[in-house]
Amino acid sequence: MDLRDFIARCEAAGELKRVKAEVDWNLELSHVAKLVEEKGGPALLFENIKDYNSPVFTGAFGTSRRLAIALGMPEDYSICDLAREWTKKTISELIPAQEVEDGPVTENVVEGNDVDLTMFPVPKFYPLDGGRYIGTAVFLVVRDPETGKINLGTYRMQMLDEKHCGVQILPGKRGDRILKKYKKMGKKMPAAAVIGCDPLLFLAGTLMQAGASEYDVVGSVRGEPAEIIVSDLTGLPIPASAEIVLEGEIDPDDLRPEGPFGEYTGYYTDELYQVKKKPCLAVKRILHRNNPILWATSVGRPVTDVHMLLSFTRTAALWSDLERMRIPGIQSVYVLPESAGRFWAIVSVKQMYPGHSAQVGNAVIATTTGSYGIKGVIVVDDDIAADDIPRVFWALAVRYNPLRDTEIIKRGRSTPLDPSLDPDSNKLITSRIIMDATIPYEWEKKPVEIKFDEATLAKVRERWKEYGID
Ligand SMILES: Cc1cc2nc3c(=O)[nH]c(=O)nc-3n(C[C@H](O)[C@H](O)[C@H](O)COP(=O)(O)O)c2cc1C
Repeated sequence: MDLRDFIARCEAAGELKRVKAEVDWNLELSHVAKLVEEKGGPALLFENIKDYNSPVFTGAFGTSRRLAIALGMPEDYSICDLAREWTKKTISELIPAQEVEDGPVTENVVEGNDVDLTMFPVPKFYPLDGGRYIGTAVFLVVRDPETGKINLGTYRMQMLDEKHCGVQILPGKRGDRILKKYKKMGKKMPAAAVIGCDPLLFLAGTLMQAGASEYDVVGSVRGEPAEIIVSDLTGLPIPASAEIVLEGEIDPDDLRPEGPFGEYTGYYTDELYQVKKKPCLAVKRILHRNNPILWATSVGRPVTDVHMLLSFTRTAALWSDLERMRIPGIQSVYVLPESAGRFWAIVSVKQMYPGHSAQVGNAVIATTTGSYGIKGVIVVDDDIAADDIPRVFWALAVRYNPLRDTEIIKRGRSTPLDPSLDPDSNKLITSRIIMDATIPYEWEKKPVEIKFDEATLAKVRERWKEYGID
């Protein structure tokens, strides 16, 4: 699948609208996209952008149905169902990417002095943003100089001028750790920014999947290898049917002002008060398809397609992590889109021994996924699905006893983007809470839930029409 296949499938399913009226890339486009998303509306293909001839695509993952279309899974699946399937597929053997000679991405090659990022209809999203953002639905391909492994990572990218993009690689990310290796070696890091491709590759670029190449992870979900071209400029593998690829290098010593940018938390960071210097991609060559589609996410407070995407990827990654830890009894896992897709997780467990639920809560925050940014974990019994929020709150109301069932962990890794952290701190450390809303396994006299009388229920169902209620 490439982006065009995905768009066609969304259109066939009534999940896409083409906007033919002229729309300004400056604020108007992002405002239309956000308003449509707030109503749970369709993905949008803006075909008539002021000053430009090529389109912009937004709202890819605004509904779980569109996530399902991207994943090639049944369209009525919930985020939990999709994550369960993803976990099953990626926990087994990965399918390595396949190198091909050529692909549509090389239909146009722009190099040297002709490199000009303003050739694309790059949106400006919100009035206080530092500029136009070319990379919102983007991933950066780099190679670890020590291990030779390829890493895909999604980091926002601001168009700084015709030939440079600011790249916000946050401290501690794999991308950051790799860049530091180049710095130590006194070398520039070859890099390729991919905008518009198989939507699964973008999803994979946002995953903190330790050890595996994201190309291979996507292959295993698709059931066939991702097709890649190895660039003669950077030596990096890029998707053969990408829409736009910006190829170049990042000089670890060339930091430039980037931001501010309205974040997925719904807030600006303290960059609003003091702009920070970030790594910068010097673009040497642009590859793009004919009539390239610039893919953009919406930004702003939950729920946007970014939160749906984060909820799915964090749920899937957390679920796989727990499976790998061989914790028995996990029924379902859910990282809520409303928690900005990352801050709160719910896990349903079939308890099998005393302390099992506590083990689950602690395990969540010890996983690779949970140890980064999750602030709250709620554990419920197996009679409640992790995404059944009314029932989760019922459990919090009637099974949870705060003094007994709360654990506060004082220190854990945070995202510096969390606006609840003290603005004068380094914003790298957060506390966490585990709320165990299960009935203690060891209780002999467990609360007895009210249940229907089965015989009466059968009779009522049989006579239902006679009551004349509906
Ligand atoms: C839409 C979107 C935008 C993101 N922007 C950034 C960003 O600007 N900087 C960053 O460090 N992580 C960002 N992330 C999270 C990273 O993509 C994620 O942590 C990923 O695992 C990073 O890859 P790495 O661990 O291989 O470095 C973003 C995620 C999404 C879904």
